[in-house]
Amino acid sequence: MKDAAPQTIYLSDYSPFGYLVDSVSLIFDLAPHTTRVKSRIAFRPNPDATDGTFFLHGEALTLISATIDGAPVSPDITPQGLICAVPDAPFVWESEVEIDPANNTALEGLYMSNGMYCTQCEAEGFRKITYYPDRPDVMAIFDVTINGPHPVLLSNGNPVKSAPDTAQWHDPWPKPAYLFALVAGDLVAHSDSFTTMEGRHVALNLYVRPGDEGKCDFGMRALKASMKWDEDVYGRAYDLDLFNIVAVDDFNMGAMENKGLNIFNSSVVLASPETSTDMNFERIEAIIAHEYFHNWTGNRITCRDWFQLCLKEGLTVFRDSQFTCDMRSAPVKRISDVIDLRARQFPEDQGPLAHPVRPESFQEINNFYTATVYEKGAEVIGMLRRLVGDAAYARALDLYFDRHDGDAATIEDWLQVFEDTTDRDLSQFKRWYTQAGTPHLHVSESFELDTLTLTLRQETPPSAATPAPAPLVIPIALGLIGPDGEEVLDTRVLEMTKAEQSFRFTGLDAQPIASILRGFSAPVILHHDLSDADRVHLLAHDTDPFNRWEAGRTLARKALLGIIERGTQVDAAYLNGLRAVITDERLDPAYRALMMGLPSQSDLASALHERGQTPDPAAIHYASEAMRDILASHLADDLQALYHAHQVSEPYQPDADQSGQRALSNAMLSLISRTDGAALAMRQFQGADNMTQQLAALACGIRAGQGDEMLAHFEAQWKDDRLVMDKWFGLQVHEAAPENAAAVAKKLTEHPDFNWKNPNRFRSVFGMLAMHHAGFHHASGAGYRLLADWLIRLDAVNPQTTARMCSAFQTWRRYDPDRQAIIKEQLDRILGTEGLSRDSAEMLTRIRG
Ligand code: ARG
Ligand code: ZN
Repeated sequence: MKDAAPQTIYLSDYSPFGYLVDSVSLIFDLAPHTTRVKSRIAFRPNPDATDGTFFLHGEALTLISATIDGAPVSPDITPQGLICAVPDAPFVWESEVEIDPANNTALEGLYMSNGMYCTQCEAEGFRKITYYPDRPDVMAIFDVTINGPHPVLLSNGNPVKSAPDTAQWHDPWPKPAYLFALVAGDLVAHSDSFTTMEGRHVALNLYVRPGDEGKCDFGMRALKASMKWDEDVYGRAYDLDLFNIVAVDDFNMGAMENKGLNIFNSSVVLASPETSTDMNFERIEAIIAHEYFHNWTGNRITCRDWFQLCLKEGLTVFRDSQFTCDMRSAPVKRISDVIDLRARQFPEDQGPLAHPVRPESFQEINNFYTATVYEKGAEVIGMLRRLVGDAAYARALDLYFDRHDGDAATIEDWLQVFEDTTDRDLSQFKRWYTQAGTPHLHVSESFELDTLTLTLRQETPPSAATPAPAPLVIPIALGLIGPDGEEVLDTRVLEMTKAEQSFRFTGLDAQPIASILRGFSAPVILHHDLSDADRVHLLAHDTDPFNRWEAGRTLARKALLGIIERGTQVDAAYLNGLRAVITDERLDPAYRALMMGLPSQSDLASALHERGQTPDPAAIHYASEAMRDILASHLADDLQALYHAHQVSEPYQPDADQSGQRALSNAMLSLISRTDGAALAMRQFQGADNMTQQLAALACGIRAGQGDEMLAHFEAQWKDDRLVMDKWFGLQVHEAAPENAAAVAKKLTEHPDFNWKNPNRFRSVFGMLAMHHAGFHHASGAGYRLLADWLIRLDAVNPQTTARMCSAFQTWRRYDPDRQAIIKEQLDRILGTEGLSRDSAEMLTRIRG
């Protein structure tokens, strides 16, 4: 119950369930408020278990009847489940429960979205459907019957029988309950097929609401590309005759890998050129791949318990990044991933929510679907691969699939396959899974005669989660660039294992510049004291595209911090170096567009905090604006030329090539509009035949003070498209002046289309507000108060989405005492709310400290 003392679950307490499940059969009689679920589950005592308590999870269920081997029983029922006396031999449990999907606003378990039924069971939603051992190490074969007056009735596996108003499904692959799914409604299918390398003919369907048929084509192509890629690169084929994807408007997260029946937030599967940006397309391709790849890394091999979440998520994110690198530009993908890691994972790892990639305790597991588990989890796999090499990685993965197919596995199992294939001892490497915190890597160098000595020192700040961090194994990819710009040593990987360690490079004619942490070979904060001139040299000559970009980014960060500390002087050598890169037509336009990007305002706040200073959001905002003005005037001659040179004349394609051109020309447009006003943006807005061009122009128009008319036009054009309207809501907050951001957000909540119970719409306003650094942290405190008001309101209907958004406050201790006082007041106010969810309570207590 909500008022019961929160219970903490520990990894060290793991013990197997007392019973194995031989089969599950479920019958659903659907009705919005009175759905009946009958279950028939064959159990048998688990020879490996010591505890024979027969406890079944169950929440918000009305038990109608329960029998064991046909005889009625009266279990002890608690808010979390039931306990029942059972025979010490195989037995059949049968029950009937009633549930209320139409009132399930938490969007967990069986719920309704726009009149359709759908489910979200990961992590612990199945217990809201029926009584069951809802834990990932209990795997079973499911048979499902769905009765209801709906044209489409779907569940996992293969269809057995379908007649009007009823359908039967059989999933031959044993699975944990979190992979169960059911969908029912009036949906239309976009269909295709794929023949696997094993010769299996697979029917593919993307189910959408009538009206969305035109937004399916790209997702379907991405699915087929993913299926092929997993065969080509990992040797993994699909294993059912049918693969279904369903798009749902009300969804807490991105998407879900239910066996044979993936369910997607419609925002990450539906796409068309007119309504989706290039970034949307790329994200859709990646998420479709991610969920599809889970079929092997997650479903065929699942997790023993939720502490092992990174086993499937880290690996699957790693695999989807590899896929995107192959489909698009590898350097561009790597840089984008690092930008994202620094924006989302670093603050988490450096604040009160820090936890290891494999946490050791939790209260609400939904709060651990984090950037640390997902993105740092993927970084750890990238490091492992770099350390053992590509060939050994491939052998280890083959062994992993071979040895653990059908298992609910652990991180120990995962590391063991690498130890067995490489004969390495990975016990020190394992600390990446067990220690929280972002390591700092300090470099000092000396040059004598012909020898460069690099001395490296690693240090992970202690945290509540890891009070005494020990040295990690850090793969440091490095190259050396000579004074003439030639690479004198190509990339090699230094393996750092000690707290401090030196590496020597001999036979050098002159002192080179070390290009360290190429490709961002480890998720650390690098401290390398290079002069600006050396960085400009790397910006011009580094052969490693990541470090070349990083040189520019570091210079930009220094320039911005310089503006904050000393006023608007920016080193001309940097500006000229930047110009040389962005006008270099041999370079990929997408890469050049990334070079144009500046560190975000929250990145700058982190950088100041790291230097022991208190970030002033207004000063950071001012510096960011000033820097853009400086770029606009310094690069003025090139902006127009580049803008026009990179207009795409061919019909729209969401591919890497065209989207790179648009990214570059839109970066130019945004600077041009600062000096020349909104005329060019207005022209682009009016002539745009795709959302990328239209939205970029609209943003420029708003910034140039010409937004009202364009926003009205945009709204009139797109008012019936909910995904585009999410952009309309979001952009207004994003582009608001800091002093207006909260007021703009508040005004948008009064718009008739602000359906706050829809997570996408809620996030389009409040996710954007939380990301608007200067607006959210405006000294008035209006942003903090408004967000708190709405988190309180949302928590009562949707704890999961509320709890995720509480992380907006995670960096609060960086700021000045006045801001801290207002934030603390808000944290206490939310925490004091009667009936606050366990989800939000856990987040806020951790954040508050
Ligand atoms: N396994 C899903 C994915 O990463 C995420 C589902 C998480 N949902 C949740 N409510 N915690 O693809
Ligand atoms: Zn996943």
